[in-house]
Amino acid sequence: DKGGYPHFMLKEINEQGAVLRNTMGDRIKGEAVDFSKELGWSQESFAKIKKIHIVACGTSYYASLVAERLMEGMLPIDIRVEIASEYRQRSIHLGEDVLAIFVSQSGETADTLAAERLAKSKGALCLAITNGLGSSLAREVDHVLLLKAGPEIGVAATKTFTGQLAVLYLLGIYMAKLSGALSSEEEGRLVKGLLKLPYQIEEILERQEMLKPIAEKYASSRDFLYLGRGRSFPLAHEGALKLKEISYIHAEAFAAGELKHGPIAMLESDIPVVIIAPQDSLYEKLFSNVVEVRARKSPVIAIATQGDSNMKDVANDVFYIPSTDHELYPFLAVVPLQIFAYYIARARGCDIDRPRNLAKSVTVE
Ligand code: M6R
Repeated sequence: DKGGYPHFMLKEINEQGAVLRNTMGDRIKGEAVDFSKELGWSQESFAKIKKIHIVACGTSYYASLVAERLMEGMLPIDIRVEIASEYRQRSIHLGEDVLAIFVSQSGETADTLAAERLAKSKGALCLAITNGLGSSLAREVDHVLLLKAGPEIGVAATKTFTGQLAVLYLLGIYMAKLSGALSSEEEGRLVKGLLKLPYQIEEILERQEMLKPIAEKYASSRDFLYLGRGRSFPLAHEGALKLKEISYIHAEAFAAGELKHGPIAMLESDIPVVIIAPQDSLYEKLFSNVVEVRARKSPVIAIATQGDSNMKDVANDVFYIPSTDHELYPFLAVVPLQIFAYYIARARGCDIDRPRNLAKSVTVE
């Protein structure tokens, strides 16, 4: 049942406020994160963890990269994020001092499962973050944290990205507390910000149709670039992946700092560039990238923070997201990227919920 929407993807994009409320739900008590029932780790048991590996594919991998940037700022532990198909093939140290986190919407992705079996066989503590209750992955790991996103039918992952990000952020906060690295004031600030996100997502969704004319203007482009820095770098990848898979347009993502190291040579007036430039410590640098791209005549579509009046003077099109703590804006910035890709695919008459050549869960290698 599409609930009155023309596509499951659009329905699922519009469910993201509710998904966040469900997923955070009873994992937040007052202003504190509480995984005592689901994980029940003690400071002593957690102290033996010296390394964290987060392993995933596709959109789940990009959610993991965003979360890595939160965790590394809070945890005194080495964190690495790997694509499951690569992780399996490499000689990465694995042992009892490793917490291996597998992020998979379906819990059935062949490479992620194989990576989990490898980590388990080497004695790592294995945790799954999945929407697939009863999935193969959920059955095999030591601990499972569910997304509570409800079934996702559209092949393009949308609401499960948001759900994964929420679980990963809560887990990051929980682990930082266990390692004594997070004050209760900091935890309270983050939790308050997290609890506001569902309302802020719904505010964005009220304005979703503003993205339709922007998408239609660029729908016939053959190539797109996506740029971001810091937390918006993995978001640039996620935005480009959404566009590729449902509209079949060639879209590439770069760390904005890499622009001058090659990609800038490609820029022309018919290559639109999506730049994710929220107001954080990296804003000035991203703003300079917008100016550089415009100087090469490429149109810029910017995702910026409400109140940033300078952006509309340089970018061709701007979509504003509400202001939030700098750690939390990926939850908000991903929504216009999803909607933008959706409207482009719609303008091109694509089969949005069942794009060609793709399966919802990739159970073969
Ligand atoms: O079920 P999983 O999260 O393990 O799936 C991983 C990828 O196959 C998946 O995210 C894929 O990239 C999506 N179609 C992206 O929208």
